[in-house]
Amino acid sequence: MMDKETLIELAKEARELSYSPYSKFAVGAALECEDGSVYLGANVENASYPLSMCAERNAIYNALMDGKSKDDFVALAVIGDTEDPISPCGACRQVLSELFPEEAPIYLANLDGKISITDIRSLLPFAFAGGDL
Ligand code: THU
Repeated sequence: MMDKETLIELAKEARELSYSPYSKFAVGAALECEDGSVYLGANVENASYPLSMCAERNAIYNALMDGKSKDDFVALAVIGDTEDPISPCGACRQVLSELFPEEAPIYLANLDGKISITDIRSLLPFAFAGGDL
């Protein structure tokens, strides 16, 4: 597994690809897989605001479209220009709870180098899941 600084740096590079003319709030994500591959995501907005997609989900969906799945993922880094490390939105937490492993580290970062290490269980305890259906 690569060190968290390297994965965060890749998330920072992904952030440069953000399309966020409305919020002007760019977010980047980097999703590391067991085989060493990394899938990037940035937020992509739309003039019809609710259609906007977050960086985290774009990274996950990008990996899925390349044939990867939950068991391949070993770490996720997310970065934004926040005062404290960025906090993923509720929708992304729900998606991660289904598609990202419970035990894998999630590195939340800001541009000042502040990092918080967490996991999806901490971010979304008591999640609604497929097993509840
Ligand atoms: N956003 C993300 O991409 N990830 C987060 O963790 C927080 C919010 C995006 C959504 C929207 O494009 C912009 O940031 C402002 O909410």
